[in-house]
Amino acid sequence: MLTEAEIKEALKAVKYPGYSRDIVSFGLVKRIAVNNGAVTVSMQLTSANAEVAQQIKAESERALKNLAGVNRVQVEVNHPAATPGGVQNPWANQNRVPGIRKVVAVASGKGGVGKSTVAVNLACALKRLGEQVGLLDCDIYGPSIPLMMGIRQRPTISEAEKMVPPANYGVKLMSIGFLLEGDQPVIWRGPMIVKTIQQFLTAVEWGELDYLLVDLPPGTGDAQLTLCQTVPLDGGLIVTTPQEASLGVVRKGIAMFEKVNVPILGIVENMSYFTAPSGERVEIFGHGGGHAEAERQKITFLGEIPIFTEIRVAGDLGMPVVISNPDQPPARAFVRIAEALRQKLG
Ligand SMILES: Nc1ncnc2c1ncn2[C@@H]1O[C@H](COP(=O)(O)OP(=O)(O)OP(=O)(O)O)[C@@H](O)[C@H]1O
Ligand SMILES: [Mg+2]
Repeated sequence: MLTEAEIKEALKAVKYPGYSRDIVSFGLVKRIAVNNGAVTVSMQLTSANAEVAQQIKAESERALKNLAGVNRVQVEVNHPAATPGGVQNPWANQNRVPGIRKVVAVASGKGGVGKSTVAVNLACALKRLGEQVGLLDCDIYGPSIPLMMGIRQRPTISEAEKMVPPANYGVKLMSIGFLLEGDQPVIWRGPMIVKTIQQFLTAVEWGELDYLLVDLPPGTGDAQLTLCQTVPLDGGLIVTTPQEASLGVVRKGIAMFEKVNVPILGIVENMSYFTAPSGERVEIFGHGGGHAEAERQKITFLGEIPIFTEIRVAGDLGMPVVISNPDQPPARAFVRIAEALRQKLG
């Protein structure tokens, strides 16, 4: 017996014309019905481009006809009527955000590896390189970015009834933390989280951004997957510590991004080593695990960040090292990674 899941799986082979992502992960497939080998699929495009619709229909039909047990296929692709003279964004309803050039997720397989620290310092480093930058803190369990960025005020509401993100050091920030009262634990259900994150993208006045960095919650479970599907990501980077890199934790992160067809930009190894006051280099968690794992997985190694007391202190003070000590080694490590990231994204 054919199942809806099998149909969906087969449709994942169909890419959105001109993109590397498939039509399922873009959320185009709205309805699937299977009855005695007769398959009916209905899709909704946001692009008015009839040629794209035609191509998706033809390729979907081809993919489904090849499935064992299928004897009749009907694919209906709905698309809005062409707007005269207007070129429509294929993601108009697919939550791509006008004005934001690249959305990049920072993820880790495990908590406490310095993901938020990396996100904050990379944001500030990209700003220093002359880019317009926003930060989106999606960590529902421990939204720590407002603290690290020294932002205490909450978003205000504009005349157009949109949220205006507070900013510091030239970096705009939206955080789940802004919506919480004090230290109350978050016991939101999945749909509420997704809705909130969607609003963080569509109901926030981000203005023109070159990069929006997204701090995902630690781990690679359902919450992370859902978020990856909610946010139109251009790429993801994985933060690891040397010892975790070799434990399959990085592989889980990679698998998560692959599941939703988000290109992996590379690995950052944090807490690579510590330089003692005597000048001696101490490899507390071992060293090079991130680099070795990147090589094994054939993905880019974006760089390493040593353990510096200044990084932790700066985080606690609400002024990231890239801002407080821009010319010191800790800041330079982040700027190098920001440069590598920018190059990777083109
Ligand atoms: N390279 C580093 N040198 C020194 N301290 C660091 C470094 N990276 C992170 N830290 C410190 O380690 C702690 C954990 O970092 P951070 O909160 O960024 O991790 P995280 O992966 O976001 O954690 P969580 O999973 O809880 O979200 C913080 O106190 C931070 O200041
Ligand atoms: Mg964090």
